[in-house]
Amino acid sequence: MLNISEIRKQFPILSRKVNGTDLVYFDNGATTQKPQVVIDVVNNYYANENSNVHRGVHFLSGLATDKFEATRDIIQQFIGAKHKHEIIFTKGTTDAINLVANGFRSLLNKGDEVIISELEHHSNIVPWQMCCDFTGATLKVIPLLDDGSLDMITFKKLLSENTKLVSVAHVSNALGTINPIEEIISNAHKVGAKVMIDGAQAASHIPLDMQKLGADLYCFSAHKMYGPTGVGVLYGTDEMLNALPPYQGGGEMIKEVSFEKTTYAELPHKFEAGTPNIAGVIAFKNAIEFITGLGVENIAKYEDELLQYATAEILKIEGVKIYGTSKNKSGIISFNIEGLHPYDIGVIVDKMGIAIRTGHHCAQPIMERFNIPGTARISVAVYNTKEEIDVCINAIKKAKMMLS
Ligand code: ALA
Repeated sequence: MLNISEIRKQFPILSRKVNGTDLVYFDNGATTQKPQVVIDVVNNYYANENSNVHRGVHFLSGLATDKFEATRDIIQQFIGAKHKHEIIFTKGTTDAINLVANGFRSLLNKGDEVIISELEHHSNIVPWQMCCDFTGATLKVIPLLDDGSLDMITFKKLLSENTKLVSVAHVSNALGTINPIEEIISNAHKVGAKVMIDGAQAASHIPLDMQKLGADLYCFSAHKMYGPTGVGVLYGTDEMLNALPPYQGGGEMIKEVSFEKTTYAELPHKFEAGTPNIAGVIAFKNAIEFITGLGVENIAKYEDELLQYATAEILKIEGVKIYGTSKNKSGIISFNIEGLHPYDIGVIVDKMGIAIRTGHHCAQPIMERFNIPGTARISVAVYNTKEEIDVCINAIKKAKMMLS
C-alpha cells in the first residue's frame, strides 16, 4: 500500500496556500507537480554541472552527457523498448507528434489514409490535417459512442489497404477513456498500417510495455509524470524511425556536412537537432525513479480508488452530468452542472484554493460531439487524497449554490 502522506511530503508545492487556504491541486492532466528531488537535480545541474552534451572532451561535458544518456537508459527500461536508440528526446508530446507527422509527409501519397479519433487532443489532430493537406492523403475519424469510448465497429470498417497510419490517444485527456489500443494496433497491423499512440495521459498512470503493445510509435511528456516541462519522449521501433526522414536540421543530427551533400547521424541523434533541455532530461530520470519506486501498478490502483470515490461523490450533486462514463477510465472526471457554465465553477473553486481545469481541454471536437461549450475537469495524481476530493466536492456544492 502506498503511504500517501509520505509521498505528499516530497512535493513542496502541496503545502502552500492559495487564496488563503491549503492548495488542492486537481489539474494533473495539464501538468503534475514536481517532487523535491526533481527540483534539486535541476538546480544542481545549473549550479554545478552545466555543460553541453555530446560535444566536448572536457569533464563537465562528459558528465552532462553521461547523465543525459542515463535518462535514455531508464526510459528504455520503463517502457520496455528493445533498443536504447529507439528513445528520442523531444520538447514534449506535441513535438513528438509533429516530428512524426512531418516525417510522414514523405511516406504518404494521394489516396492514402490516416485514421485518428474523435477524442483526440488538438495536438493529435492538427499535425495530421497539415500532413494530409501537404500529401493529398485523406484523414478519417473514428467516432465516439455516447459513453466516450471509441466506436470500434466503425474503426474496423474504416481500415483498408489504403490505411497507412492510425494515430490515437491511449487515454483521453478530456474524458478519461482508456482506449483499447492493443486491439487498435493489432487490427491496424492486419492491413499493414503503422500505429502511433499519444500516451501523454497514460505514462505514469498505466504500466507500459512496448513489446507487448507492439505500437510502432508511442510518445509522452515528462511534465505530466512529475518531471520538468519541455521534455518529451518519442519511442519508435528501429524500423519505423529509420523509415522517417529527419525533422529538423542542425547541429548534432548530422554525420557530415558539405554544401554538396549532408549525411545524417544514426538514431537517436538524427532526430535531436540543437541543444536539448539538458537539465530537464537529466531530472526526468529522477521523476521516473519516483514513479518506479512506488510502482506504476500501485499508482494505477490508488488513482482508480480516487476516481471511483470522486465519481460517486460528484454524482450526488443534483444536476451533475459526467462526460466519459466508459468502463475503462483513468483518473479524469469531466463534468457539467445543469444551468452553470464550467468556467464559473472553476473560478469559484479557485477562490477556495482548488485547481481544476475548465474549457474545451484542447479537444473541441469532443465538445461538439456532446454539444457543450466545455466541461470542468478534475484529474488526479498519486499525491491526491480522498479528503481533498471531499474539499473539492464541497467547494463545487458552494459554487452551485452561489451561481444558482
Ligand atoms: N493536454 C493538457 C491537458 O489536458 C494540457 O490539460
